[in-house]
Amino acid sequence: MKRQIVISLILFVVFGALVPNIGAPAVNAQDDLKIVVIGKSVAPYWSNVETGTKAAAAALGLSEDQVIFFVPSTEDIAAQIQAMETYIAQGVTGIAIAPSDPNALEPAMKSAADAGILVTTLDTPPIEGSVSLVYIGTDNYTAGTIAGQAMVQLLPDGGKVGIGRGSDTALNALQRTDGFLATATGIDALEPVTDREDPTTALQLASSVISANPDLAGAFGVYAYNGPAWANAVIEAGKIGEIKIVAFDATTDIIEFIKGGVIQASIAQREYDMGYRSVEVIKMMAQMGVEEALAEAGAVDGIIDTGVDVVTPGNLKEYEAGLDAKGIPHEWTTEGWEVPEGAFTFQAE
Ligand code: BGC
Repeated sequence: MKRQIVISLILFVVFGALVPNIGAPAVNAQDDLKIVVIGKSVAPYWSNVETGTKAAAAALGLSEDQVIFFVPSTEDIAAQIQAMETYIAQGVTGIAIAPSDPNALEPAMKSAADAGILVTTLDTPPIEGSVSLVYIGTDNYTAGTIAGQAMVQLLPDGGKVGIGRGSDTALNALQRTDGFLATATGIDALEPVTDREDPTTALQLASSVISANPDLAGAFGVYAYNGPAWANAVIEAGKIGEIKIVAFDATTDIIEFIKGGVIQASIAQREYDMGYRSVEVIKMMAQMGVEEALAEAGAVDGIIDTGVDVVTPGNLKEYEAGLDAKGIPHEWTTEGWEVPEGAFTFQAE
């Protein structure tokens, strides 16, 4: 009897060491979970995503080192691939990534999936047929069409419009541009200028487009810092209100430019939700299985559409009230600010 116990014990220790998961429950224990979110650049937009991941960790009872957030400083595909490799080696539970180049990232995402890691995407979609189990973010083409409609409403007589964006490979930048061009009829859109998520380059490019086109009537900022880049360039050129700006996102700088009458409209994404839900859904998948988790999370065809809000001076106060009602933190306030007379209000089409 004693001998049998000793043998069982030896077998358990030997095989337990060889196969780390031996004896582990089918579901991931809460303490074993490790969830990684990989973004695209150091920017206020990504800080909001990170805030969402932290809020999810706190609400779901995960410790600070169980939820990791990483971003390269600017668009850096190699750095994203390297981060994937590091976290695959660590054997984390799940990785949510915003692929700056979905084709270049797919092999690393596949390696992760092959290693049993739950791979999801956020903010910018993966390639078709990707191993990504779900995309959590904006429907970027539709959001681009809304931006195009806003531009047409701001420029009813048409005119020349510059486009500044942070990537020529990330699908969100490409889809937003396509959507914009599809609805901005009557607009003479210039070839997009690309800054690879470097706000300094974005400002230089915006300034040179403005000086090369004295008749510029509008500017479209595709990424979160592009609107502010156009705004600063417009201020420098002394053309506030003369060049209409449609931006993306509702970071503090954008809201201040909307309050100041420099940016006329912005398509605000829900990036806090993207961070929050990425952590939440990976945890659910780890604990209840992929299919059941996705059904419960409301994924449709592998997509959780986080939605957008069109923010203009005309509805800024309502937008703020909406964020407050949902408990979404923001550094800016409309307190003490009055809606200027004749402020632009978007007409949904
Ligand atoms: C985009 C992100 C991008 C960010 C830059 C956002 O509009 O959705 O993909 O990294 O802008 O700040």
